[in-house]
Amino acid sequence: MLEAIVAVYADWGIGADGTQPVALRTDRAHFRAVTRGAAVLVGRRTLADFPGGRPLPGRVNIVLSRSQDPIEGATVVHSIEEALAEAAKHPRCLVIGGASVYRAMLPHVDRVYLTKLDIRPHSDAFFPDLDADPEFRVSERGPEQEENGVTFRFLTYTRRSAAQDDPSIQKERPQ
Ligand SMILES: NC(=O)c1ccc[n+]([C@@H]2O[C@H](COP(=O)([O-])OP(=O)(O)OC[C@H]3O[C@@H](n4cnc5c(N)ncnc54)[C@H](OP(=O)(O)O)[C@@H]3O)[C@@H](O)[C@H]2O)c1
Repeated sequence: MLEAIVAVYADWGIGADGTQPVALRTDRAHFRAVTRGAAVLVGRRTLADFPGGRPLPGRVNIVLSRSQDPIEGATVVHSIEEALAEAAKHPRCLVIGGASVYRAMLPHVDRVYLTKLDIRPHSDAFFPDLDADPEFRVSERGPEQEENGVTFRFLTYTRRSAAQDDPSIQKERPQ
């Protein structure tokens, strides 16, 4: 199953000028925990925003780029089809952005780990509004938390058709 993880602001913005204007320590720890040991699929622009512009350690990094240049420590793929084929080689693969990669991969994603931050900084990159997407429903809603004056919560969105196929997801349904 292909999954995604993202932090969104109240307007579904996810970043501006190639970076995240507000990022929370608690959310970064959550990201590390969810992606640990998994493969991650990332766009070349988001990779450029990682520390040192380098792939994330401890994870298989699949980078989507139209360039043929190799990237040390990563497998480079050049199309959505190639990305899907590469992701399928791994027991777990999470789409980790950015906006263009989320948008292109969402039709293939069955679960989204989403951090909703109750702030609205200026964004020029957005995640699709899953609350307006009848294909997805909230299957888990964490408690409201607060860091540095920012309230946020962790949510899981699950594709309805995937929930029907997966008994472990069905159990989460309210009775
Ligand atoms: N809030 C969050 O959780 C979160 C997470 C990740 C990113 N972000 C934010 O998202 C923003 C970046 O998003 P973005 O859309 O500008 O960039 P992006 O999706 O990270 O990367 C775009 C690049 O990916 C490659 N690419 C995309 N689609 C492709 C395709 N179909 N075939 C081949 N290559 C493809 C191209 O690389 P080449 O140019 O090399 O050809 C393209 O320039 C930043 O603001 C970042 O901070 C937020």
